[in-house]
Amino acid sequence: MDSIRIIGGKRLSGNIKVSGAKNAALPILCATLLSDGESLLRNVPKLRDIETTSALLRFLGRNVDVAAPEVKVHAGAQVRPEAPYELVKQMRASVMVLGPLVARFGKAKVSLPGGCQIGSRPVDQHLMGLEKLGATITLERGYVIATAPRLRGCEIVFDMPTVTGTENLMMAAALAKGRTTLVNSAKEPEVEELGRVLNKMGARVTGAGTDVIEIEGRDELAPFDHAIIADRIEAGTYMVAAAATGGDVLLENAPLEDLGSTVAALKKMGVEISREGNAVRIRRPGALQPIDLSTEPHPGFPTDMQAQMMVLSCIAEGTSTILENIFENRFMHVPELVRMGADIHTEGNHATVKGPAKLQGANVMATDLRASASLVIAGLVAEGETNVLRVYHLDRGYEHMEEKLSAVGANAVRVQDQHG
Ligand code: EPU
Repeated sequence: MDSIRIIGGKRLSGNIKVSGAKNAALPILCATLLSDGESLLRNVPKLRDIETTSALLRFLGRNVDVAAPEVKVHAGAQVRPEAPYELVKQMRASVMVLGPLVARFGKAKVSLPGGCQIGSRPVDQHLMGLEKLGATITLERGYVIATAPRLRGCEIVFDMPTVTGTENLMMAAALAKGRTTLVNSAKEPEVEELGRVLNKMGARVTGAGTDVIEIEGRDELAPFDHAIIADRIEAGTYMVAAAATGGDVLLENAPLEDLGSTVAALKKMGVEISREGNAVRIRRPGALQPIDLSTEPHPGFPTDMQAQMMVLSCIAEGTSTILENIFENRFMHVPELVRMGADIHTEGNHATVKGPAKLQGANVMATDLRASASLVIAGLVAEGETNVLRVYHLDRGYEHMEEKLSAVGANAVRVQDQHG
């Protein structure tokens, strides 16, 4: 597997272009199952998770033409409404084909995703909602089998806001008979974006981006042409990288309006952030101040930015605290950061970070996407050479991260594994 070799100590300066949002593109790719004809997605990031979803759609019988940043999905002659374990285990978001398949074809057989590195991540809310919509759900040998003659609109109250759960049920409800109300929905910008696409397809969705979403289902939906919003987590990650190196970076296409709590936290730490037309400038003129962070559903501080912000708190002048409330096991970067010289103590979901630490380069490895990004940022500020191994994880969610960073002055290169 490839790794990224970084020689730390370079200040980042220059322009970085933010790509399309992974977590918006994934449900929208699944939404193509809701119609016949050809849908066109623009501003799609070039990522491993997009390839995995494309492979899944092909398995289901769609023709998928990926020419980044565009993806065309065309309905094939036949559909095989089955998502196999081999594909779902590579990417949990694959479970989002369940709602569209059962709504459109009356049946679906989708492998249960199982736990993952950051937590157990059950899908009970997805299944509860589909049952309420009228699907019969059975579990057989690791697969969910859902059948329904025609889904019927109803009210669904989530036990907790779930992003992909909300998206799965929005898509199912778009082809249900009548009106569905989703209460305690996730409010993430990616949910709002899916609402826009379903409206383009002919459904009537209101309230996406708030905690109550209403969906007026249709008998048929039409294909769509849509440009995906910019990736707020990619943008936030580069904001942290710029701040960590004391840099001055202009982020093109950064969705500042979706980054409220991240920007507020960075400003509190002493980072300067200002809008310049369609771009956002990030500067860190002086020392970093410590911070107390607590991850929450949107619009609270995002769990997907927690690992990156922890690196910043390692080099801040004082003691920071970080509380991870969304996933039970999302501190896997901590032991690796400690190996690099960070002073971090964790107790359950609470981390205390004492700064400023003088980070030193090391060989490090992470087993999830955002943890890997945090190790790259640590490498940018560490003294000497850092090798971030298993870049596989990073490639799931960041388009050419080492290229974007070296274009603004980082000494970062991809090292290809000789053994494949
Ligand atoms: N949950 C349940 N039951 C369910 C669904 C969720 O108990 O049926 C729990 C989860 O275990 C978790 C909480 O609810 O404790 C919230 O999880 P959520 O369902 O919102 O997460 P997700 O939809 O699986 C999406 C993103 C994640 C991001 C989370 C939280 C996509 C494809 N994935 O996951 O992104 O961390 O929301 O914002 O949209 C990433 O990009 O690195 C990533 C992990």
